[in-house]
Amino acid sequence: MIFGRVKPLDAILAAAEGKSLPRTLGALQLTLFGIGSVIGTGIFVLTAAGAQKAGPGLMLAFAIAGLICVVAALCYAEIASMIPVAGSAYTYTYSVMGELLAWTVGWALVLEYAVAASAVAVGWSGYFSGTILNEFFGIQLPAWLAAGPLALGGAPGGFINLPAVLIALLVTGLLIIGTSESAKFNAILVAIKVVALTVFIALTLPSEQFSASRFNPFLPAGVFGGWGTGVGAVGAAATIFFAYVGFDAVSTAAEETKNPQRNVPIGLIGSLLFCTVFYILVAAGAIGTIGGQPLGPNGFITGGEMPFAAGSAELARQCAMPQYADALVCSNEALAHVLREIGFGKVGNMLGIAAFVALPSVILVLLFGQTRIFFVMARDGLLPPSLSKIHPKWKTPYVVTAITGGAVAFAAAFLPVGQLADIANAGTLYAFMMVAIAVLILRKTEAARKRPFRAPLIWLVAPATIVGCIFLFFNLPIDAMLVLPVWGAIGLVVYFLYGYRTSHVAKGVIEVPRDDVFDVPHDPR
Ligand code: ALA
Repeated sequence: MIFGRVKPLDAILAAAEGKSLPRTLGALQLTLFGIGSVIGTGIFVLTAAGAQKAGPGLMLAFAIAGLICVVAALCYAEIASMIPVAGSAYTYTYSVMGELLAWTVGWALVLEYAVAASAVAVGWSGYFSGTILNEFFGIQLPAWLAAGPLALGGAPGGFINLPAVLIALLVTGLLIIGTSESAKFNAILVAIKVVALTVFIALTLPSEQFSASRFNPFLPAGVFGGWGTGVGAVGAAATIFFAYVGFDAVSTAAEETKNPQRNVPIGLIGSLLFCTVFYILVAAGAIGTIGGQPLGPNGFITGGEMPFAAGSAELARQCAMPQYADALVCSNEALAHVLREIGFGKVGNMLGIAAFVALPSVILVLLFGQTRIFFVMARDGLLPPSLSKIHPKWKTPYVVTAITGGAVAFAAAFLPVGQLADIANAGTLYAFMMVAIAVLILRKTEAARKRPFRAPLIWLVAPATIVGCIFLFFNLPIDAMLVLPVWGAIGLVVYFLYGYRTSHVAKGVIEVPRDDVFDVPHDPR
């Protein structure tokens, strides 16, 4: 019986116990780790796409997405402290709901990690082309090399996003040779990002250009833009959810945390609350100074009309008109653009450099997460064993890293950042929902088992996570929504053709994922 293929929790926990990593992490390190994994393309770039969907209501969108992430984080904190092993949501599902559903989660995590890595690469490309090439070297990349065929704000005529391809391949190469990111390096990158956002807030909110009138109308596209349209405040929340993706990395460090009962939730919730407050203030600064009204067929919309879809060809054409070229919703490097517009050109360029320096580490963490999940799935016999081959010299899973990196570069070459982020969000929302379900099931089936962290009010928090994830999912644009079932169907075909027969659990072999197979590139210690 296929649903009987469950990985016994006891076997997993016994192996995890044998591992006994030293408990060195405190609340502050975990919070920094979370902030480092979270702040990236979402705030630096997608602010433009979010404004195109919600207008000034983007601030509300950040709050809605942040709140859903907080309840999801509580579920993650409980299950990660209980099952502290590699493979994240995939492994939790395997031990609670069995192989088939675990496979669907692992398959959906490709969207969370690999597609998100592509999105961050495309976001980085905007800052590289705009700030580094254009502002510093006066080089304007030809349109066909600077963006995919449908890139946001790019003049029509884009063909391939060459900088995004190059950064994705560069990060892949670094991972293959075993580059690891030390805690010190992470702390420096976190400081760079936080200083950049703080300076942005400090220059925009008190600025002379700041005017409360720019927040009017607050919700030009309404709260709900309509099913499948992905606009309005909730449509923007579904997109901007991307800005919070990555916080689950904190939960993977549960086993190495001192006093996890206290510190894991502080790290998870602390980093999320910190980012939520920053994101809302950044959105307020951007909109209050240069405005954030969405564009539609008749120019800026003030109500009653549908805005163009973010990343659409229509929006790109409108943005190519001189009267709209400076609009927030048209910018590929939203935050640097705002500072330049209000007379802080040099600071805008510094912020561009901060994004240029810091975003590749987000790609690194995401790509690493993806290779680790594939690695664990291959060792479970659900993917070909050749994928988990370790390089003799570099001690990294080079085959799976190279294949994943190639796919990430390919997606980054041709798709716009907003669309990639929406697709990544669809997969992430599915995984979060499954984690919340697993937490509830475990409360019933394993009521007596030790939980180093017990989420408060779980019968409220977990259902809120499930409902919140479904709600955001159904507010994504229809194409991103459809990717999940189509991708899932492909996954099921692959499973029944391959993993169903080769599964180790089916053969009675229990492989237990270990976290220490290869170097951790984002070691929070
Ligand atoms: N949250 C990460 C970002 O915004 C993925 O880049």
